[in-house]
Amino acid sequence: MIQEQMLKYYIETWGCQMNEEDSEKLAGMLKNIGYTATLRREDASIIIFNTCCVRENAELKVYGNLGALKKLKEKNPELVIAVCGCMMQQKGMAEEIIKRFPYVDIVFGTHNAYKFPEYLNRVKQENVSVKEIMDKETEIVEGVPIERKSDSKAFVTIMYGCNNFCTYCVVPYVRGRERSRKPEDIENEIIDLVNKGYKEITLLGQNVNSYGKELEPFVSFADLLRRIDKIEGLERIRFMTSHPKDLSEDVISAIKEGTKLCEQIHLPVQSGSTRILSKMNRKYSREDYLALIKKIKNELPGVALTTDIIVGFPGETEEDFEDTISLVKEVGFDSAFTFIYSRRKYTPADRMEDQIDDSVKHERFNRLIEVVNEISAEKNKEYENKVVEILVEGESKNDSSKLTGRTRTGKLVNFVGRKENIGKLVDVKITKAHSFSLLGEEVK
Ligand code: 5AD
Ligand code: SF4
Repeated sequence: MIQEQMLKYYIETWGCQMNEEDSEKLAGMLKNIGYTATLRREDASIIIFNTCCVRENAELKVYGNLGALKKLKEKNPELVIAVCGCMMQQKGMAEEIIKRFPYVDIVFGTHNAYKFPEYLNRVKQENVSVKEIMDKETEIVEGVPIERKSDSKAFVTIMYGCNNFCTYCVVPYVRGRERSRKPEDIENEIIDLVNKGYKEITLLGQNVNSYGKELEPFVSFADLLRRIDKIEGLERIRFMTSHPKDLSEDVISAIKEGTKLCEQIHLPVQSGSTRILSKMNRKYSREDYLALIKKIKNELPGVALTTDIIVGFPGETEEDFEDTISLVKEVGFDSAFTFIYSRRKYTPADRMEDQIDDSVKHERFNRLIEVVNEISAEKNKEYENKVVEILVEGESKNDSSKLTGRTRTGKLVNFVGRKENIGKLVDVKITKAHSFSLLGEEVK
């Protein structure tokens, strides 16, 4: 019993899919040395917090959660607590964590996560705490074991880092410069996944469209997509995130020609005002973005478009905000992740003078959400009475009599169907559309 308790790990992940994938790698390494997962912190002998620092809120959550671990550590002094991820890459943060939460045993960053088993060993053997943050990105480390959450769909990171330096964003400082994995490494990982029964992969990177720029020989993102589209047995390919300044016609053609590339593009616009886009250092105008959307819609009929939007960026006037609202209406996004601008230390936008009042930010945020949700609901309505292909992911979270999965366009569908089809592709007739999901019945 005690032995069993000693071998459980609990990982909490904040932030983006890249962090999710990093956590799956931590889980893979732990599995290799005999640990199994638990969903209860009380049962764990290792607790890992994989942190995010893109917005202040994410950081506050980490502090709150770390504070709550004090009691657990008092009850079980053998418990190992590790904190890692983007937040730790910020200047002085690792020291701050250790000072405020002295019961934390291991602190590491985004560039050295592959060394986690070594750190754990040191804590256990030498009874010391370990803090190691690497400022510089290392060569890409291949072959780290990975324990994925899903059996049918997987994230595959194709590149790390970002060179864009949008003025609000902390990512380039904590994830380093762009580095691409070799196409054959990516291909082999996907072939291996397909052999294990995976049907869908999502290629990940902060800016996937700059994939391959520093590779020799050069391989473009469109080349990579075409190569992966040929992998036999794979059914669906998605990718994120694309930067509007870099999404090329060749990538659009690759999606059009491909059979597995899904008709879904996540294309963060951030703002509908050219003036604000320029202050954000996004390197495209409102008109450029709209022209790109037009091209995509022409080439890929039925495509689902999703986006990220920030409200309350420094200097945003009511007129700028109205530009965002009108762009949202003009594009008709299937869904949008909406964010209140959050000041991030060391970023240029944090030093801008015309910061916006919290009350104004919140009021604009609420107005934006209303418009976004209304359009999402309208977009979902278009699916009613249609038959769509679903990759069945499992039982529905809130209703185990139903199954759940997604359309090729990324819409979440809960439906009545046969459990033996979990992990497979089925046709589902959509019976009702809600704002954030669809209801349906499997077509027999
Ligand atoms: N404040 C608010 N939102 C931000 N994002 C990135 N940095 C900030 C910030 N400082 C948002 C952007 C990005 C998404 C991942 O997070 O919209 O696309
Ligand atoms: Fe941040 Fe901009 Fe890079 Fe995206 S493209 S990670 S928003 S700096």
